[in-house]
Amino acid sequence: RVAELAPHGRQMAPYACQRRTPLLHSNQPLTEALETLAEEAGFSGSEGRSLAFTRAASVLKALPGRLGALEELGSLPGIGEHSRRVIQDVLEDGVCTEVERVKLSERYRTMKLFTKIFGVGVRTASRWYQEGLRTLLDLQERNTKLTRQQQAGLRHYGDLNTPVERSEAESTSRAVQEAVKRFLPGASVTLAGGFRRGKPRGHDVDLLLTHPEEGREVGLLSRVVSWLDSQGLILYQHSQENSYGLREGPEPLGGRDVMDRFERCFSIFRLEVQGGPGAARGWKAVRVDLVVAPVSQFPFALLGWTGSRHFERELRRFASRERKMVLNSHALYDTRQNLFLPAASEEEIFQHLGLEYVPPAQRNA
Ligand code: CTP
Ligand code: MN
Ligand code: MN
Ligand code: MN
Repeated sequence: RVAELAPHGRQMAPYACQRRTPLLHSNQPLTEALETLAEEAGFSGSEGRSLAFTRAASVLKALPGRLGALEELGSLPGIGEHSRRVIQDVLEDGVCTEVERVKLSERYRTMKLFTKIFGVGVRTASRWYQEGLRTLLDLQERNTKLTRQQQAGLRHYGDLNTPVERSEAESTSRAVQEAVKRFLPGASVTLAGGFRRGKPRGHDVDLLLTHPEEGREVGLLSRVVSWLDSQGLILYQHSQENSYGLREGPEPLGGRDVMDRFERCFSIFRLEVQGGPGAARGWKAVRVDLVVAPVSQFPFALLGWTGSRHFERELRRFASRERKMVLNSHALYDTRQNLFLPAASEEEIFQHLGLEYVPPAQRNA
């Protein structure tokens, strides 16, 4: 078997949550090509195809070195026929014609432009494309009906598509911490999302709020948001109440990629900045997600909000297929024993699942 010749053809665990995936890896051109096709498939509503490309890219991210030849793929899991072709093209020619064609296509470019508007998903973007809209100006000139969220997204399009630097994430976190301290001393604010995985920049700031005494966190978010708003720090916000009760069991959240039900706030902050693109104005619009978790659910919330999205998806798939457990951002439920498995840390959740602990910096699947 080729696997014997292959330096990388050694065993690789099939689920991304069983592997360590660092932020920086040696196969960037390959994963970029595959992820472009994954994105394009998502734009066409082909979720299965999109997932296949995402999985293949994720496997390559976990390789210890640069893939030199197709044969080295050997027995790697989850790399299908189509992905192999793409990999072969990039290895041999430096580019894959199919990927280059996608990147130049009017549909892909327009879908990308529109989905980068805060509040616009694939379905809306797709409808606009079908209606013949092609530019942000078209949206305005043709008086396209926009939600309040999309209006804010369009207004701050430039800023929101300029990466958030780690220093900006930290100052956002400090501003929220200060507000939290006013209303609930002892409550904590934790930076999750890509920044917790070690990314130097991101598309937003994900903050998790909790208090060591269960129940004390109730009502905190609206006070914090009102206060930040009164200080002129909020350009847009949309809050949602907690709608989760453990009583109802995990079934309503069983599906994949379902949103959790924490009290939360999707917002755009007006962040004071010294340098960078917003420097002349002195401020920059930054997307911030605020989520409140009761302390008993905090480890699940932290695990769920640290990502990556693919790592999360794989964790849930592993839990359900290999362990008959339902994992979400609130709880872990064992369907064989019919009970919830509590956890005081992320480590304990991995233990319950019989998985080796993967630290945040290795969850960049
Ligand atoms: N998440 C979620 N529910 C949402 C939005 C996000 O559970 N409605 C989770 C995602 O599963 C992900 C994490 O929150 O694991 C962070 O999501 P996101 O901010 O979109 O991505 P990041 O990994 O932080 O990357 P980026 O730098 O682009 O923000
Ligand atoms: Mn994020
Ligand atoms: Mn993102
Ligand atoms: Mn987010």
